Amino acid sequence: MQCVRIVGGRPLGGSVEIGGSKNAALPILAASILTDERVLLHSVPRLDDVHLMLSILKKLGGDVTLEGNSATVRMGCVSAVPDFSAVCRMRASICLLGPLVARCGEAVLPLPGGCAIGPRPIDLHLKGLQKLGCEVIQSKEGVRLRAKRLNGARIFLAGKNGGTVTGTANMLCAAAIARGTTEIHFAACEPEVVDLCKFLTGMGAKIYGIGSPILTVDGVDSLRGAEHRLIADRIQAGTFALLAPMLRGDMAIKRAPISHCAALLDVLERIGVPFSADGDCLHIFGGKCDRLAAIDVSAMAYPGFPTDLQAALCALATQCCGESAIGERIYENRFGHLVGLRSMGAGITLAGSTARVVGPTKLAAAELSVADLRGGACLCMAALAASGESIVDSVHHMDRGYEQFEEKLRSIGADIMRFER
Ligand code: EPZ
Repeated sequence: MQCVRIVGGRPLGGSVEIGGSKNAALPILAASILTDERVLLHSVPRLDDVHLMLSILKKLGGDVTLEGNSATVRMGCVSAVPDFSAVCRMRASICLLGPLVARCGEAVLPLPGGCAIGPRPIDLHLKGLQKLGCEVIQSKEGVRLRAKRLNGARIFLAGKNGGTVTGTANMLCAAAIARGTTEIHFAACEPEVVDLCKFLTGMGAKIYGIGSPILTVDGVDSLRGAEHRLIADRIQAGTFALLAPMLRGDMAIKRAPISHCAALLDVLERIGVPFSADGDCLHIFGGKCDRLAAIDVSAMAYPGFPTDLQAALCALATQCCGESAIGERIYENRFGHLVGLRSMGAGITLAGSTARVVGPTKLAAAELSVADLRGGACLCMAALAASGESIVDSVHHMDRGYEQFEEKLRSIGADIMRFER
């Protein structure tokens, strides 16, 4: 098992550069299936999930290369059945459903299991694709979709927890080459969905209302190849922005997608963290944070505070004066990181879907176990703030979503070393 040893408790600071967005890369790579022409993507983050998606595309019959942070994909011929062993390892493989059934007339996918943050159903994906004309056959192994021709439809894409990001991506890909017009109501508005819309438009898709919760797609007969630069990763940028005040250090976060971070900046302001924006560089003056104020916020769909930063905010809240209330409205079970924070001495109770964090607490180093990607970042942040040597296990979770995480932390002075246990 891959672990990291972190010796924390020292002020850290410096500059980090943010890479391309994982959650833009994955649906856009899947959307490359929609054309037999060459697709060239830049700012592709070198992450385990991206390598996995590229290998899935290769096994589907594609020519795939990744050089530096540029990927070339040409899906000249495409099988409708991806490598199940690879697909089962990544929830985001669900993004293959729409492109595959649109390109091949059918798609077969194993049911993406639940994970540490909740059951992760796909009922909305299947409902929308059925509306577009797919026959859906579900079994315990997975789901098979068939469609002689996709036809435009009006789709309402919301469930009990609101909209769906990858569900919106699947609808966009299928509707792009369906016959007629599709309206997607309650579409996700995340920047990663907007980036997918821009990529599809570059391929010749006709999409209107981009960035709004009502998208209209006029289907076209075929899509061409395209060249596209992915947006920067707002979750990576937000993780470092929340880390800086914990470490009482000044941080320059370069290539930050500041326009996608309004909710994060609002939280920093309310906590009392001084910052400034200089072009695409976000300066966090963690060294000037003498008193951090408790915060009351809930994670919700964009443009709200992102659920993928909820765990990182819990880590910072341990250093805020008073009782912070951090709610989670997207996932049923996304507080796994509280166990580790409590083991370090944090005063946290969970009331329904709200974590109540009393601070400030001088965190103690501990042996920490990671259950999911964003929980892992939270525990690494806490270990950097705690005096002494902590061990964080299962860091393979981090490799899925944080490009060069250790290198970036070392570049701001962190004492962090990976080892096998
Ligand atoms: C995307 O996941 C992101 N992943 C997640 O990031 C992110 O947390 C999430 O959107 C935010 O909404 C990628 O983009 C690859 P959802 P996604 O479908 O699309 C329920 C990370 O850490 N739902 O928006 O899978 C679902 O249970 C990851 O980078 C249904 O009920 O999330 C959840 O409660 C984690 N039925 C809510 O909607 C469905 O058919 C939002 O899920 C689909 C979803």
